[in-house]
Amino acid sequence: MKILVVGSGGREHAIVWKLSKSRLADKIYCAPGNAGIAELAECIDIPVTDFEGMAELALKKQVDLVVIGPDDPLACGITDVLEERGLRVFGPRKNAAILEGSKVFSKELMKKYHIPSAGYESFDDPERALSFIRESRLPLVIKADGLALGKGVLICETREQAEDAVNEIMVNKKFGDAGKRIVIEEFLTGREVSVLSFVDGKTVLPMTSAQDHKRAKDGDKGLNTGGMGTFSPSPFYTEEIDEYCRKHIYQPTVDAMAAEGREYKGIIFFGLMLTAEGPKVLEYNARFGDPEAQVVLPRMENDLVEVMEACIDGRLDEISLSFKKEAAVCVMLASKGYPEKYEKGFEISGLEAFKDREGYFCFHSGSRLKDGKVVTNGGRVLGVTALGQDLIRARKNAYEAVEWVDFSNKYYRHDIGKSITDIC
Ligand code: AMP
Ligand code: GLY
Repeated sequence: MKILVVGSGGREHAIVWKLSKSRLADKIYCAPGNAGIAELAECIDIPVTDFEGMAELALKKQVDLVVIGPDDPLACGITDVLEERGLRVFGPRKNAAILEGSKVFSKELMKKYHIPSAGYESFDDPERALSFIRESRLPLVIKADGLALGKGVLICETREQAEDAVNEIMVNKKFGDAGKRIVIEEFLTGREVSVLSFVDGKTVLPMTSAQDHKRAKDGDKGLNTGGMGTFSPSPFYTEEIDEYCRKHIYQPTVDAMAAEGREYKGIIFFGLMLTAEGPKVLEYNARFGDPEAQVVLPRMENDLVEVMEACIDGRLDEISLSFKKEAAVCVMLASKGYPEKYEKGFEISGLEAFKDREGYFCFHSGSRLKDGKVVTNGGRVLGVTALGQDLIRARKNAYEAVEWVDFSNKYYRHDIGKSITDIC
């Protein structure tokens, strides 16, 4: 089979790597891809927003399957455009990707179908939002309705912060149209867990659990980022919790989408908070998590092409997923200054250390080739993942491997998975 992967980050590198292990994959293309992906796939420089260009490429190369990595093109309907051209696509259509694309939609869905989540109100008028804030208990979580590069969620400890957030999002339009409407929700406490799952319209197959570290600095300090590191599995995600989530969250979500006439096929990423009252949904994403994919896919034993094909054909009930017992830890190497200002274009050295090293991976998030050299090309640069017998070993291996590569202004958190291994 010929496969085209759309995207250019660490998530797409992990997807391309896993697809390259499939007995069904003969040739992989990636658009636009990056310097790491180029070792496994033919990269073609088409932006993910150019749906017509993507369709032309897929038709010209006669690909049998297109896999969409990022959220933005999904929310804007890339799947619909490619399907109209007769292509087979892994990723939800626009009317289903709204599960991530609109927080107002997802909150209304959860309310209507009794899926556990934080209490909330939604607003399209800033005055009404401000008067709601005056009467509410703190802290409050304020979310822009639409996609905002992972920055559209603000946790407000004081009324002043909440009022500022409403003004920034709705009046000053910090996130553009994504902030036309907002959700104000109750602040939940507990352990966060990410569970990515395959969905074929009816059946949902959750993968193993993972945990992200969203803040930029050690000790969960600093600004929110796309994710500074992950580990898998989460020891807090017990079998009992899994059973509860399948019954009260995963299947009801897929059934709710079908009942709304929005059949969901692809990945649903359930962002959960394990609260004292039980697991609740923090958010849905319509794609693999980044960097969650970098710890979940290296542990997956199934052939990814087979599972994606089963999703598209509605045959997921024939599949059973299995994951390696080994744990995985991914440490994100970023450019100093990320998620704010940072420089790029620095040469990356030491990448060859990962070649043929079983259990070690270096997924590229932001890199490109320049004059035959691999250089940094983003805030998040490399995701260094290692497997290990358990989380303690995986963590030790990942932090050893972090030293194998270098570039100017290399920055990373030193405590990915630490709170877990401290109590193991
Ligand atoms: P999201 O972009 O929706 O994943 O939100 C980003 C982060 O904000 C989540 O990973 C949580 O850490 C936090 N968050 C979102 N909603 C809530 C909530 N209701 N209570 C507490 N934290 C939240
Ligand atoms: N790591 C969180 C996300 O992919 O949204």
